Amino acid sequence: MITLHTVTDLRTAVKAARLAGKTIGFVPTMGNLHDGHISLIERAKKECDFVVASIFVNPLQFNDKNDLSRYPRTLPEDQARLALARCDLLFAPDVDEMYPGGQDGQSTVHVPGVSAGLCGGSRPGHFDGVATVVTKLFNQVLPDKAFFGEKDFQQVAVIRKMVDDLCIPVEIVTVPTARAKDGLALSSRNGYLTTEERALATGLYRTLTEIGEALQRRETQVSILSEATERLNQRGFRTDYLEIRNADNLSEDISGASRIVILGAAFLGKARLIDNIVVTLMHRND
Ligand code: PAF
Repeated sequence: MITLHTVTDLRTAVKAARLAGKTIGFVPTMGNLHDGHISLIERAKKECDFVVASIFVNPLQFNDKNDLSRYPRTLPEDQARLALARCDLLFAPDVDEMYPGGQDGQSTVHVPGVSAGLCGGSRPGHFDGVATVVTKLFNQVLPDKAFFGEKDFQQVAVIRKMVDDLCIPVEIVTVPTARAKDGLALSSRNGYLTTEERALATGLYRTLTEIGEALQRRETQVSILSEATERLNQRGFRTDYLEIRNADNLSEDISGASRIVILGAAFLGKARLIDNIVVTLMHRND
């Protein structure tokens, strides 16, 4: 695996792969890689001839400066994991390479509708930062397919709409959330948990699962969510949001929908964890 740090070198290498007749798969990341990221690389290897990963901790998507400065940067370990997974190229630019004119004057991409509420509500500007950097990375790499984890359900909805609205010629492929044995969704932010908090952390997934079961029993949404919030808080979390949405378009209106997504975000100590599950209702919801 080669590691490149400039857009010029990246373009030259990807162009050579394309001229050799290879299809290009792309896995954008912010590093501190775990098995969830590796499952994206593995899927990309199955579907494409030449796999590019990127590691860039994008300042534009952090609304909290402390969150940005403490975000784990583990390039040597990440390089070793990517090489083992047979990734072909790692693009690891620095902030000046990605934002040569500075961040303030940067043109940005705003994806209306799906960026609002949920994590977009709790982290103002977050999805504009994501949409902007992913657009730049797509234009730098020019992949045929790009691979994202379902754990970031709203992020995937934002990127799919962006690609459709702006006619970006890349196919978006999603990969199921990788989970620890107890159900905790793998995330770089799990590293912030103490041993005691790690033992409690599965409470978020358990709460989402219980909401799904209550929906199947046709209990009312308002009581399901208020009871679930109370339970999650009792499990040691500080709930940010728990919501039930239409899985096909993230709409709050779930009447008539049979595929439902239950999304949650909650703080546990210093970590803000997010997770979601998709459930197919046994009854139509109307
Ligand atoms: O999901 C992430 O790690 C980031 O939001 C992404 C897509 C790499 C953009 O910075």
